Amino acid sequence: MLGQNFPLTRLRRNRFDAATRRLVAEHSLSVDDLIWPIFIRDGGGDPVEVQAMPGQFRVGLDGLARHVEQAAKLGIPALALFPVTPAELKTPEGREALNPDNLICRAAMLLKKEFPDFALVGDVALDPYTDHAHDGLLRDGYVVNDESVEILAKQAVNQANAGIDFIAPSDMMDGRIKALREALDGAGHIHTRIMSYAAKYASAFYGPFRDALGNQGALQGDKKTYQMNPANSDEALREVAMDIAEGADMVMVKPGMPYLDIIRRVKDAFGVPVFAYQVSGEYAMIEAAARNGWIDHDKAMMEALMCFKRAGCSGILTYHAVQAARLLHG
Ligand code: PBG
Repeated sequence: MLGQNFPLTRLRRNRFDAATRRLVAEHSLSVDDLIWPIFIRDGGGDPVEVQAMPGQFRVGLDGLARHVEQAAKLGIPALALFPVTPAELKTPEGREALNPDNLICRAAMLLKKEFPDFALVGDVALDPYTDHAHDGLLRDGYVVNDESVEILAKQAVNQANAGIDFIAPSDMMDGRIKALREALDGAGHIHTRIMSYAAKYASAFYGPFRDALGNQGALQGDKKTYQMNPANSDEALREVAMDIAEGADMVMVKPGMPYLDIIRRVKDAFGVPVFAYQVSGEYAMIEAAARNGWIDHDKAMMEALMCFKRAGCSGILTYHAVQAARLLHG
C-alpha cells in the first residue's frame, strides 16, 4: 500500500471525531441483520426464564404473540423457533418431529396469521424430540446417517406445510440438503429457503441451549461423530461446498465469535450469504460478565454483533436481537 509514511500519514486523523469515524466505517449493523431465536413450550402461564440465559424465556404458545410483538415493532425480520418438547413426547425415533400438530407447527401457524411479515426459521434435527437427545437416529450407539436423513426430510416438509419459510437443518448428516430440497420441491414448496447449518462444530458453547430444551443430562455421549472438530477449518469449506452444490440458499457457521475465521474463509471462497449463530454460551458469557459488572453489557453486545458483519456475515442469529434492535433504534 502507498502513503504509509509517518508523519505525512497519520492514521489517527480518520479517527479524530465522531463524524469522520462514521464516514470511514467499513461495516455497519442494522436491524435487518438480526434473527431472534426463541424457545417455545406448550400452554399458557408466564414465560419461564432459562437459568443460564437470563433475559431469555421458554414462552408458552398462549403468550407467544405478546412475546414477539416487541420484535415485530422493532422491525426484526426473522424468528428462529425451538420447541421445548415435554419428556413424555420424546421417543428414540423422535416421532413428534413429524406430527403436523407439534409445537413448531402450531407456533408457525399462529405466527404466520398474527405477524405475516416475519420470516420463520425452523430448525431441522431430531434432538428436541429424541429421548437420547441426538440429532438423528441411534443404532448401537452410533447416529446413523441415511436413515436419519429420511426422517429429517419428512420433518422439513412437515414444517414447511405449517408455514415455516426457512428450513434450517442443524443435524450435520451427510447429504441432507439434497434430500430436503427434493422433498420440499416434491411437496410443492419450491420457494421454501434452505439455510444450512453447514459448518456446525461440536461445541461446549451449546450448554445453556440444551438446558433450555430440557436436554441437559439427557444426551448420551457427545455429537462428535457428526458435528465438526473445532480444530478444523479446511473441512468447513468442504461442508459448505457440498451444501451449496446440494441446493442450500444460504449457509451458517456455528458457534459464532470463536469461529470468525471460518466465516471469513467461507465468504471469500463462495460469496454466498453467510450467517452466524451467536449461540447460547456466547450469550451467557456476555450476560454473566455484565451482571457481575465486569464488562459493559451494551457495548460488548454491539461490538460482538458488529464483528460478525466485519467477518462477512449477512446476518446473525442472536439472543440479543431485541436488545440490540432497541439500541439501534436509539
Ligand atoms: C440442535 C441445535 C443446537 C443448537 C441449535 N440447534 C444444539 C446442539 O447441536 O446440541 C444450539 C444453539 C445454541 O446453543 O444457542 N440441533
